[in-house]
Amino acid sequence: MAAHSESILTASEIPEIVNTVKELGLVHDDTSFRRVAVAHSVRGGDRLIEVWLYRTSTAQIEELIISMSTNTLVTRQLVDDQVPQYGFTEIAASVAAVKADPGVIAAVAKRGITDMSTLQVDAWPTGNMGLAHEEGRRVARCILFQRDVVSDNGYARPVDGLMVFVDLDKNEVYEIEDIGVWPIAEEKSNYDAAAVTPRTGLQTINITQPDGPSFTVTDGNHIRWQNWDVRALLDHTEGLVLQSLGWTDEQARRPIMRRASLAEMVVPYGETRESQAFKNALDVGEVGLGRCVNSLVLGCDCLGDITYLDGAWALEDGTPVHVDQAICIHEEDFGIAWKHTDAHNGHAAEVRRSRRLVISSIFTVGNYDYGIFWYLYLDGTIQMEIKLTGIVTTQSYQEGDDLTYSALVAPEVAAPIHQHLFCARFEMEVDGPNNTALRVDIEADPPGPSNPHNNAFRAVATTLETEQQATDRVDAAKSRSWRVINQNKLNRLGQPVGFKLIPADTSTLFPADASRIAGRSGFAKQNMWITPTNEAERFPAGNHVSQSRPEGQGLPTWTEANRSIVDTPLTVWHTFGLTHSARPEDYPVMPTEYARCTWIPFGFFDRNPALDLPPSSHCG
Ligand code: NI
Repeated sequence: MAAHSESILTASEIPEIVNTVKELGLVHDDTSFRRVAVAHSVRGGDRLIEVWLYRTSTAQIEELIISMSTNTLVTRQLVDDQVPQYGFTEIAASVAAVKADPGVIAAVAKRGITDMSTLQVDAWPTGNMGLAHEEGRRVARCILFQRDVVSDNGYARPVDGLMVFVDLDKNEVYEIEDIGVWPIAEEKSNYDAAAVTPRTGLQTINITQPDGPSFTVTDGNHIRWQNWDVRALLDHTEGLVLQSLGWTDEQARRPIMRRASLAEMVVPYGETRESQAFKNALDVGEVGLGRCVNSLVLGCDCLGDITYLDGAWALEDGTPVHVDQAICIHEEDFGIAWKHTDAHNGHAAEVRRSRRLVISSIFTVGNYDYGIFWYLYLDGTIQMEIKLTGIVTTQSYQEGDDLTYSALVAPEVAAPIHQHLFCARFEMEVDGPNNTALRVDIEADPPGPSNPHNNAFRAVATTLETEQQATDRVDAAKSRSWRVINQNKLNRLGQPVGFKLIPADTSTLFPADASRIAGRSGFAKQNMWITPTNEAERFPAGNHVSQSRPEGQGLPTWTEANRSIVDTPLTVWHTFGLTHSARPEDYPVMPTEYARCTWIPFGFFDRNPALDLPPSSHCG
């Protein structure tokens, strides 16, 4: 029997899917699997799976939707002139090809490296820098590092100046660009426990939940916790996805979001050196976050009474990869939910503890590690937090080098300035399918007869009627926020029910509009986009972002239609993130930084929904 339509994909399902695709006659000798995931589409209770194929001889991508309930093809779309996401098998092969290439061997020998086993090869997505030799090719651009032993930190010793281009269809090095020789840094900058003597004085912290957790997980991935219920998925491309998020009160289950995910991200680098300027990774679409997921370890990654969900994804030949403990579900104490001390009645303060349900996964993309953390709170708050750690990308430094666009992090190592801009996609269904969005700015009134004390300021809500009107940036000077309301459902005060998006103080893309990266990742030029929900519009830089052909795909193109967004199913796309001008403290491994956005109920409830929390048993 096929699983529930929104169940997490399992490794045991993948052979069945691959078999169905083969039986449909869609797999040839040169066909590879590029994405196998639970389909975004929902049709009845059907278990729909999305499969992307790539055929080398035709250079065509095929986007399929397969029904596992009936083992039939639901839709099939052919895509020409675009480059599929690279596969992990071919990337591993390209690394071997680089190490064996005579041109590479000669180039690193010039830098004093003769033992090729000490070479670390990182295959990067090459992006689209307009290089003629990349036209008509699928390309990995490899950069190099040296480590004496495999346990060393490779990023501490970049072999700068060299870029090795691999034709992925042929698995051969076809171009080596050598812009100059830098000395290889001496410091190893290792960060493992063997290299750093652990400090003392930290006493044990244990989290104990003697009665067990307050959530349940049934039917594979259906999580229920207090009033909340949601399903968690691991998607090949987007990583951790929430599906069918709702709140049940005395009356009924109230939907809030149909699907919430990190739909794309971009990491533009500001350094002009050729060996760094191409680094413009779109780590969701180019790399596939889901297949970079970590297998989490109790007591290390997560503390407390944990329930894990396993994940699965497929290699290019359809072989399933099973990941134990890919998604972590647990509760965290979160300080005070609310409190008041009544100075007049002499009673003890009324105080209630807050806690949150945490649904999280961690992904390693080359040098960086990203956590996607979803938090649900007892007061109706929904938060998405990206945790950023790992190692900054490094370049060599020698005396006289320009440090305008980079900062020293070690004596011979610099880190280029860069951004991490995340585009979260929220498919809204606040108390029903049809929603409307508002932009709310706080404005101060000018002096005048209606402002006799010159103190007046007010919230000015503007109904956003079209996509282009909605496209906007965060404005801290106006305390700008956005609200998604359901005009058809009113609370007891007669206000439309809604949720408010509180953005962080977040910049947009810094590279100039004329840059290649701005052409590839237009979604990052604005913090807010709102579109009518369309299941074909899921990835804000396009479905196939590798080598970005053509530029301008996704949100910038879709919103040209300037569709109406009033009282209709809405998708909110919010770009937020951080800009890193690297510190010495970010090295050799970065203390975790946080980027987040928060939805809070705004008139969704009639009063504080956490009023009925019981006083803590530890209290008084
Ligand atoms: Ni960074």
